[in-house]
Amino acid sequence: MLLCLFPWLLINVARGQFMADGYWNGRYSGKLNYVDYTSDDVSNGLWSDSGSLRGPYLLSSGEYSGSKCTGCVCDDNNQIVSSCTGPAVSLLGHSFINITEETFTNPSAVTSIKILNNPNFNLIGNGTFLSLVNLEYLNLAKNALEITTFNWIPQTLPTSLTRVALMENNIHWLPDDMFSGTSVTILSLSYNQFTFLPQKALTDMTQLLYL
Ligand SMILES: *[C@@H]1O[C@H](CO)[C@@H](O)[C@H](O)[C@H]1NC(C)=O
Ligand SMILES: *[C@@H]1O[C@H](CO)[C@@H](O)[C@H](O)[C@H]1NC(C)=O
Repeated sequence: MLLCLFPWLLINVARGQFMADGYWNGRYSGKLNYVDYTSDDVSNGLWSDSGSLRGPYLLSSGEYSGSKCTGCVCDDNNQIVSSCTGPAVSLLGHSFINITEETFTNPSAVTSIKILNNPNFNLIGNGTFLSLVNLEYLNLAKNALEITTFNWIPQTLPTSLTRVALMENNIHWLPDDMFSGTSVTILSLSYNQFTFLPQKALTDMTQLLYL
């Protein structure tokens, strides 16, 4: 069995084409303490060896082009996004520069935020996530978020969060206990400017499966 599988594996690995869920589950499913990955995990930051995904993390490359303003109102002339009601907020290719507490008019209804490829989006206001008590997915990949020890605006993340993706920004540093007490299972920080792993930001993450 191993003998006949081996050439197949070799060909597929050499081609560099596998999705992380199939790859890891194929090896470890059913083993002690192994939790099967899902395709949802793949779209939220698990590394796959596939040229169809950007990074190759997260979503297919095509999802980063064009524009989208779902669950909100986007005013590109004034560079503002407002009136976000959810449950799914999805913003792509717009000119707004920040999101704040006031951006969300029905905060407890919002379960998912996907803000991708908005070249001016560089600031998250104080208390933006405080009332988003049912937020599970937070994907802020490929924006202009710059986070350093000098410009940090304190944030409290909802304990309901299960997936967080912050790749392709300009994050140099994250504060201690940033994700503590959340339900985050998959956390993605690649393609930023970290000079070391922000270890203390990751304490008390009891559900974390993949970093
Ligand atoms: C967010 O952007 C708007 C529009 O440019 C601006 O009026 C507001 O002051 C900004 N808020 C913060 C906290 O920077
Ligand atoms: C953020 O808001 C809280 C409460 O509204 C306030 O106490 C705190 O000083 C603010 N922090 C910053 C950096 O503005």
